[in-house]
Amino acid sequence: MQNFLITGGAGFIGSNFVRYLLERYPHYRVVVLDKLTYAGNLANLRDVADDPRFTFVQGDIADAEVVHRVMREHAIDTIVNFAAATHVDRSLMEPDEFLRTDVFGTYVLLEAARAFGVERYHQISTDEVYGQVLEGRSREDDKLHTRSPYSASKASGDLLCLAYHTSFGVPVTITRGSNNVGPYQYPEKVVPLFVTNAIDDLPLPLYGDGTQMRDYQYVLDHCEGIDVVLHRGQVGEIYNVGTGSEMRNIDMARLVLDLLGKPHSLIRPVADRPGHDRRYALDVSKLRALGWESRHTCAEAIEKTVRWYVDNQWWWRPIKSGEHYRAYYQRQYGSRGLA
Ligand code: NAD
Ligand code: DAU
Repeated sequence: MQNFLITGGAGFIGSNFVRYLLERYPHYRVVVLDKLTYAGNLANLRDVADDPRFTFVQGDIADAEVVHRVMREHAIDTIVNFAAATHVDRSLMEPDEFLRTDVFGTYVLLEAARAFGVERYHQISTDEVYGQVLEGRSREDDKLHTRSPYSASKASGDLLCLAYHTSFGVPVTITRGSNNVGPYQYPEKVVPLFVTNAIDDLPLPLYGDGTQMRDYQYVLDHCEGIDVVLHRGQVGEIYNVGTGSEMRNIDMARLVLDLLGKPHSLIRPVADRPGHDRRYALDVSKLRALGWESRHTCAEAIEKTVRWYVDNQWWWRPIKSGEHYRAYYQRQYGSRGLA
């Protein structure tokens, strides 16, 4: 492994992974292929932009011509696919892009992996494919019970990966991560949304009764987990990545407000997300057995994240004041009495 194609590398987790990879492995070269949707942002990569080992290509993973050109020109031997439509609420509004990118785009990348005989194709997946888990923890061989267009699209991508491994011998691995938090997360996801609203004394829209639970993990813990699977994982296998613990949304909201010294009265209960999954919980023992450990608890991950958003308002203020974000906010929260 030396020449990496990182798709979706201008997004939140992808950009953190690119930085991580270049810092950790001085001999690796990285090509980012990213369509630059509303969620893609070159500012996320500005500190690696001048690195001679880094190349950026704007393009769509569902466009086979672009994908094959990049594979050929950069002698790619490893693909890590972060590119996806990722926000559950948007998948409830407009599922098309989720099917196109998360399913068809994955297929195009797998075809390229097969044609070019890569050393590894790694798929970034999610704990959402297991569906809500009211008790216990999801293991990698559990049945998939997807409930949103987003999770159904991601599960379809996973199944295609496994099929390409079985049918064509493509050396595939998959990681299923829990909710990531940390630098450069687009402020539609709940933690950066709550932090940035709280900084501006705006209400925090809490869906339903706020007792839903998520495993908020620090993005660099997730990056380390992916690294371990790339270098020590078994081809054809799936690995869960998360802290292995959970936090209720209401407690996360209170923690954010306490860290910022803001009143709990900013929490505004609003109409629930349709089909809202109550709880995700991962069994991470398979990845631990490879020597990986999460370095942050949910609370520590949120604390670091709050600090980053306080210190990096240059990054999120232009996003939140932009036309795209404002239109989305109006559409998503207007009927909930917020916009
Ligand atoms: P993000 O929305 O921040 O970034 C997605 C990136 O993909 C953007 O840069 C976007 O421009 C790019 N993209 C979208 N469609 C594309 C296409 N057709 N071609 C090329 N690029 C395209 O997403 P994220 O939160 O960083 O998630 C990255 C991956 O991790 C996704 O596959 C997601 O399903 C998975 N994941 C996310 C989380 C989380 O908590 N955020 C948790 C587990 C798994
Ligand atoms: O679990 C991994 C998944 O985490 C990733 O695969 C997805 O890409 C990522 O978007 C995330 O999905 P969630 O739906 O869990 O994340 P979100 O930040 O949208 O919501 C987290 C919780 O917060 C969820 O219970 C819904 C709630 N919520 C969300 C928003 C946006 C609110 O209460 N209010 C909100 O305004």
